[in-house]
Amino acid sequence: MVAETRCFFALWPSPVVAGWLFAQGAPVDGRRMRQETLHLTLAFLGNVPTVRIPELLRVAGELALPVADLEMDCLGYWARQHLCWVGPTQLPASFHAFVGDLHTALRANGFALEEREFAAHVTLLRNVREAPKVHPLEPPLRWCVESWRLVGSLPDGNGRRYESLGEWPACPGRRS
Ligand code: 2AM
Repeated sequence: MVAETRCFFALWPSPVVAGWLFAQGAPVDGRRMRQETLHLTLAFLGNVPTVRIPELLRVAGELALPVADLEMDCLGYWARQHLCWVGPTQLPASFHAFVGDLHTALRANGFALEEREFAAHVTLLRNVREAPKVHPLEPPLRWCVESWRLVGSLPDGNGRRYESLGEWPACPGRRS
C-alpha cells in the first residue's frame, strides 16, 4: 500500500454528458483531457495518508448531495493556468450549500484544502497557449447530478490514472 494517495471529491459525468463536454473543446488548441477522465472537482485534498482514506469515506457518508441540474452554459479560459474549461455560470443554491458543507466537514476533520474559492468547472484542455473565445454555450447542457465520488489519482507510467475509492448517490428527496 502506498503511504500517501492524491485524492479529490468529484462529480463524474455519464458517457453521454462526457461526450458533450469533450466536444466543446474541439476548436481549442492544447493538451486535451481524455473523455473518460473528465470530471468536476468538488474538493481537492492533495496527498492524504492512505490510512486516512476510511475517514474521508466516513465524512462523505454523513453528507447528502441533493439531486440537482447543473446548467453547463459557459466555455471559459484561465490564462494563468493556460486551462480551458466548461462550467455553469450559476449553481443551484442547494448544490452550492452542499459544497460548502463538504469543505467545512473536511476541514473540521483535519483535512487541508486550498483557500481558493470553489469554481465549478470541468477542465477540457491544459497547455492552452492561445486564448479561446470565452462564450456562452448555446444550447447549454443540463447535467443531472446523480452521484459523487472520492477519487484517487495514482501514478501510472509517465502519467496518472484515476480510481474511484467510494461513491454516493445524490439524495432524491432533495432537489434545488
Ligand atoms: P483543475 O482541473 O482545475 O486543475 C484532479 O487533479 C482535480 O483536482 C482536477 O480537476 C484539478 O482541477 C483539481 N485540483 C484542484 N487543485 C489542484 C492542485 N493544486 N493540483 C492538482 N489538481 C488540483
